Amino acid sequence: NNYCIIMAGGIGSRFWPFSRNNRPKQFLDFFGTGRSLLQMTFDRFSKFVPAQNILIVSNVIYKDLILEQLPEISADQVLLEPCRRNTAPCIAYAVHRIKSQTDKANIIVSPSDHLILKEDEFGSIIKTGLDFIEKNDCLLTLGIKPSRPETGYGYIQIADGKGPLRKVMTFTEKPDLELAKVFLKSGEFFWNSGMFLWNLQTIDAAFEKLLPEMHQKFSQGQEFYNTDKEQEFINEAFPSCHNISIDYGVMEKADNVYVLTADFGWSDLGTWGSLYDLSDKDDNKNVTLKCNAQYYNSKENVVTLEPGKLAVIDGLEGYIVAESNNVLLICKKENEQHIRQFVTDAQVKF
Ligand code: GDD
Ligand code: MG
Repeated sequence: NNYCIIMAGGIGSRFWPFSRNNRPKQFLDFFGTGRSLLQMTFDRFSKFVPAQNILIVSNVIYKDLILEQLPEISADQVLLEPCRRNTAPCIAYAVHRIKSQTDKANIIVSPSDHLILKEDEFGSIIKTGLDFIEKNDCLLTLGIKPSRPETGYGYIQIADGKGPLRKVMTFTEKPDLELAKVFLKSGEFFWNSGMFLWNLQTIDAAFEKLLPEMHQKFSQGQEFYNTDKEQEFINEAFPSCHNISIDYGVMEKADNVYVLTADFGWSDLGTWGSLYDLSDKDDNKNVTLKCNAQYYNSKENVVTLEPGKLAVIDGLEGYIVAESNNVLLICKKENEQHIRQFVTDAQVKF
């Protein structure tokens, strides 16, 4: 009885101007494959989970976009939040919805903006994980070997032992740079991929213990789920939820956390830099996406204009040049974390 919860309510502001409020990055086709990141995520999990057991949780403003991109699912599989409260309320809602339909389930939770290059390896990891959580009272996360002191990820310290399945000693969400460097150097830490597996009883008990108010709030909806009163109940209950991620709210505090470490070509498409790293490069390490470009004396840039346009670039090194929907961004790659601020400052509609 497998279920999948796909979280698709983020706004992806560091991918501006590509990622916009009316169409954040999970709804975009980055690689010209004809499938958006959300569609690719759905395709990936529909191999393990019946399509009718896949729930998409997102903001109410993306309802039509989701149903348009995923004609395979029905409207009641799209769970709509009236406001953004991060991933703990998103997961609590979806878990309670599942609980209203069944009392036994294995649940996979996944972000909607990741890229996975080795789909076969990923498949066998998911099977191992599902097998483990069906029998064990644990919160399982998929861990990735770190390659740089990234401060945007969670870090998992594993216990001694053998094999890819280990008990987690500590879970530290988004450490500062100093700490991230220590973690990387020690060799004992893995990145949290943000994908979780657990059975219904275990996650329900974890919410009850660690976020009791949130648990109680969504429990009160049992009589409304799967009825025409559900949205009304959620619109009422959601805004007063504690704004907290599952990582801070549950994973850092729980003591029954396990990790399955694996290499399946994982990448979080969080920023332009991560897209640059993943893309094919020319001899001067320039990446050109969707448009045409002529480069002179230029290297290590990522350039993307609207399809059909030509960029002529002379003497530029290490820049992002991105045009989309009446916005042109020219920004040093190393300053990409500033993009969030640019978006806030910009007078155009995000
Ligand atoms: N429905 C809903 N509502 N979805 C949300 C919300 C929300 O309020 N906020 C974020 N999401 C979705 C995003 O669209 C994304 O798919 C996923 O939840 C994760 O949120 P992010 O905001 O991207 O989290 P993060 O990248 O900062 O950190 C998480 O992922 C890292 C790996 O990519 C954490 O789990 C880290 O520990 C992890 O290393
Ligand atoms: Mg992310």
